[in-house]
Amino acid sequence: MRTKIRYYFHIFAPANSSNIVFMKEIRILDKKFREFLTEKAIQQRIEELARQMNNDLAEKEVVFLGILNGAFLFAADLFRRIDFPARISFVKLASYQGTSSSGLIKELIGWNEDIKNKTIVVVEDIVDTGNTLERIVDELVIRKAAEVRIAAMLYKPAAYTKDIALDYIGFEIPNDFVVGYGLDYDGFGRNLPSVYTLIK
Ligand code: IMP
Repeated sequence: MRTKIRYYFHIFAPANSSNIVFMKEIRILDKKFREFLTEKAIQQRIEELARQMNNDLAEKEVVFLGILNGAFLFAADLFRRIDFPARISFVKLASYQGTSSSGLIKELIGWNEDIKNKTIVVVEDIVDTGNTLERIVDELVIRKAAEVRIAAMLYKPAAYTKDIALDYIGFEIPNDFVVGYGLDYDGFGRNLPSVYTLIK
């Protein structure tokens, strides 16, 4: 097995506090990452986003559109908290290899839902440059969606280059490479329940 995901526990005791803070670090292949968003914080935030969507969208005909691979956990955790009848579907594309954006957007595949005249909630793991999002939104316009809303678990405002408004944001994060909760480094780390940031 090539994956080396190791857990180290470091203890930091801030000088002005008697609290002891446990920080989790992991290694994936050649890189080390530090826990950045805990599983609890992520799940709490999804609960809030779902509540907002249940208020905003219950009267509409909604299709949630998860963007694979990264959004599979977010889409599942969000969708199970939606309390009105709605559909979910997934499309797949890839624009990222390693730890820097290639800028290449590949083919969008897997459209099997009729989205014409429906409210589409695009469910993204992370919005970085916004290239992927723009591509998806263009496609939704061509396919005549009635309305498009964007839900992103993570958003890097410093990297974002587009004008498309994001309606539901889990967390705004710095422009650093992250893994976990669906996001990968060379295919690994998606199964981590927390989000980890690269230690440079
Ligand atoms: P964008 O097209 O630049 O917005 O990038 C979107 C896609 O790039 C996401 O759906 C992720 O798959 C990937 N991506 C962007 N930032 C990161 C990161 O920090 N870690 C892992 N994947 C990322």
